Amino acid sequence: MAKSKYEYVKEFETDDRMLRNVYVLVRIDGKGFHKFSQTHDFAKPNDVRGINLMNHAARCVMNELDDILLAFGESDEYSFLFRKSTDLYQRRESKIVSTVVSLFTSAYVYYWNDYFTDLKRPLYPPVFDGRAVLYPSEVEVKDYFAWRQADTHINNLFNTSFWALVEEGGLTPKAAEARLCGTDSKDKNEMLFTEFNTNYSKLPAMYRKGSVLLREQILKDEDKDAIIPTLPETLPGSKSAKVVPALDTATTVPGLQSGPDPISGSVSEAPSGQSSPIAVDSPVVSQETIMQEGSSTSSSEGKKRSIDANEAERHDAEEGPAAKKEAPAFKRMKKGVVIDHIDIIGEKFWTGRGAYILAPEKKKKLRP
Ligand code: GTP
Ligand code: MG
Repeated sequence: MAKSKYEYVKEFETDDRMLRNVYVLVRIDGKGFHKFSQTHDFAKPNDVRGINLMNHAARCVMNELDDILLAFGESDEYSFLFRKSTDLYQRRESKIVSTVVSLFTSAYVYYWNDYFTDLKRPLYPPVFDGRAVLYPSEVEVKDYFAWRQADTHINNLFNTSFWALVEEGGLTPKAAEARLCGTDSKDKNEMLFTEFNTNYSKLPAMYRKGSVLLREQILKDEDKDAIIPTLPETLPGSKSAKVVPALDTATTVPGLQSGPDPISGSVSEAPSGQSSPIAVDSPVVSQETIMQEGSSTSSSEGKKRSIDANEAERHDAEEGPAAKKEAPAFKRMKKGVVIDHIDIIGEKFWTGRGAYILAPEKKKKLRP
């Protein structure tokens, strides 16, 4: 087709393809969510509806973009890690970032009423910004996620203490801030326990550790857009916390984790530089995770399960629909996005459930 005389303007576009063979990390963050959360009467310091809506929107992003291997969310932000070899939009930064931000934001609004059931839609359109960061090696990727989870811990402990002082202790926000000035994690834990009868380490893991989205085996008939279950708990020490009806699927599974909490070993907290250990308790996990835990969590077994899933597909094709009905549970698995609230600081995660994330990828031809 002949070019129009106007076509030259395309030459003004810049080539923003990102460096190849490095990890692409996209982080989105709510704009002015301090105000947005106030306007929509979010429970303090954590609104379970808001967190679950964020998690749902993030899952929509992962369902759409296969090259995202891991996501981590807290407060009004979400981080998405793409595989090193991603060739999405030829690695064009603006296309990738804008797609993630747009999809996340539209899902946040689209599913709003599933979580904020008493309000048809947000009172004004929420805005998220986004950025891409390139990380050259596994070291920076692990440290990046450790940084975000450490941030979750520091902020949540501060906010829990702050709102306990204000809402239960009757202090003004200014007085509460003054009271917390110069305290370290140990002081805050102590204060919550002695003055507000709150054992911080027993608060929901979703609040203390944020949310981790992983790609694992799930049941084949699992609805990929199913609503992520809400937590039944409200935060002790927060009178304004709203009870959201618990779905059957939210369950506590004892003994999923053991050993010291990696956060306690790696967080340095301004201004004291100290942190206190957080006892690891039973994390609250979603149904998807329970199914996963029920079969196995080790990476070698994960590999076996995916082979089983392939076999099942072949079996289904060969045997027809009648055979499908009879298929045992292990044959009804597929790769899906699961949510959990686990430690991602420390090697345990990266050598266990997160092992697939940094596993060597098939060499891609870098030369034409
Ligand atoms: P910018 O990102 O710079 O636009 O500012 P921001 O107002 O969004 O603040 P920031 O991203 O630093 O922090 C997010 C803010 O969202 C928190 O400080 C809280 O005020 C609010 N927020 C996020 N999640 C919750 C929640 O579950 N409950 C309540 N009450 N507030 C929340
Ligand atoms: Mg923000």
